Amino acid sequence: MRMQQLSILSIPVIAAASGLTDLPSLQVPECPDLATATINQSVPDRTLFPLTTASLCYNESSLQITFKAYNETNYYYNANQTTNGDIWEYEVMEAFLYHGQNDPTTYFEFEVNPNNVTYQAVVYNPSKVRATDAPFDHFFVTEPAADGFAAKTTLDKHAGTWISTVHIPLAIFDVAELQGSQWRMNFFRTITSPSTYPNQTLGAWSPTDEANFHMSPYFGKVTFV
Ligand SMILES: *[C@@H]1O[C@H](CO)[C@@H](O)[C@H](O)[C@H]1NC(C)=O
Ligand SMILES: *[C@@H]1O[C@H](CO)[C@@H](O)[C@H](O)[C@H]1NC(C)=O
Ligand SMILES: *[C@@H]1O[C@H](CO)[C@@H](O)[C@H](O)[C@H]1NC(C)=O
Ligand SMILES: *[C@@H]1O[C@H](CO)[C@@H](O)[C@H](O)[C@H]1NC(C)=O
Ligand SMILES: *[C@@H]1O[C@H](CO)[C@@H](O)[C@H](O)[C@H]1NC(C)=O
Ligand SMILES: *[C@@H]1O[C@H](CO)[C@@H](O)[C@H](O)[C@H]1NC(C)=O
Repeated sequence: MRMQQLSILSIPVIAAASGLTDLPSLQVPECPDLATATINQSVPDRTLFPLTTASLCYNESSLQITFKAYNETNYYYNANQTTNGDIWEYEVMEAFLYHGQNDPTTYFEFEVNPNNVTYQAVVYNPSKVRATDAPFDHFFVTEPAADGFAAKTTLDKHAGTWISTVHIPLAIFDVAELQGSQWRMNFFRTITSPSTYPNQTLGAWSPTDEANFHMSPYFGKVTFV
C-alpha cells in the first residue's frame, strides 16, 4: 500500500517536469483571418534558414494552411512519386498536428511537395522522439480527396517562391468545441537539389535538437481563437 501511494504521488511531478520551456505559440483565428508561423531556423543548429511561413485559419470543417517557401531555387521532387509516396526524401513543407496539450505519441503528419503531391498519415511514435529501439509507424489516409483534403500549389520561379494552400478536415481530430481548443503543432521545410540529394537542409518553426522532426516535446502550442 505504501509503495502504491508513493507512485501515485510521484505522477504529477513527472508530468510537470516533462515539458520544454520557451516553445513557440500561435493563436489561430477563424478564416479569412490568418495567423502565421515563421520557419526560419535550421534543424538542429538553429542557424538562419530560408524564410518559410505557414499561415493558418479554421472554419467549422477545415483547417487551412498556406505554406510559402521563399528563396527556393531547386523545386526538387521525384516526378514518379504520387499520393503518400516518400516525398519527404526531396523537398516538402510539412505540418505535424495534434489536438491536445501533452507531448503526443500519435499525431497527424501532412506534407506537400512542389509537384502538388501530398502525404497524409497518422503517426504512431510511442517514444515521442522516434527512439531507435522503439516502434514507429504510419497509417495512411488512402482517400484524401473523398475525406475532405485539398491542395493547391503555385510555383513562381522568377520570384523564388513556392506556395501550397491545403485544407485538412477537422473531423479527424475529434474536437467538440473548436473555439478555445488547444493543440500542439510543428511546421517544417526540407531543401535539397540534384547535386546534394539525398542530403537535406532542414528547417522548423520549433527546431528539434537532432536531424529528426519526430520529436513531439518540441511541438509548439496552438490555440484556436
Ligand atoms: C525568425 O522569425 C521570428 C518570428 O517571426 C522573428 O522574430 C525572428 O526575428 C526571425 N529571425 C530572423 C533571423 O530573421
Ligand atoms: C533570401 O533572399 C533574399 C533576397 O532575395 C536575401 O536577402 C536573403 O539573404 C535570403 N535568405 C536566405 C536565408 O537565404
Ligand atoms: C470550410 O473550408 C473548406 C475548405 O475551403 C470549404 O470547403 C468549406 O465549405 C468551408 N466550410 C464552411 C462552413 O465555410
Ligand atoms: C522514375 O521511373 C522511371 C521508370 O521506372 C525510372 O526509369 C526513373 O529512374 C524514375 N525516376 C526517379 C527519379 O526515380
Ligand atoms: C493539386 O492537387 C489537388 C488535389 O490534391 C488538385 O485539386 C489541384 O487541382 C492540383 N493542382 C494544383 C495546380 O494545385
Ligand atoms: C552528404 O553528406 C555527407 C556527410 O556530410 C557527405 O559525406 C556526402 O558527400 C554528402 N553527399 C552529397 C551528395 O552532397
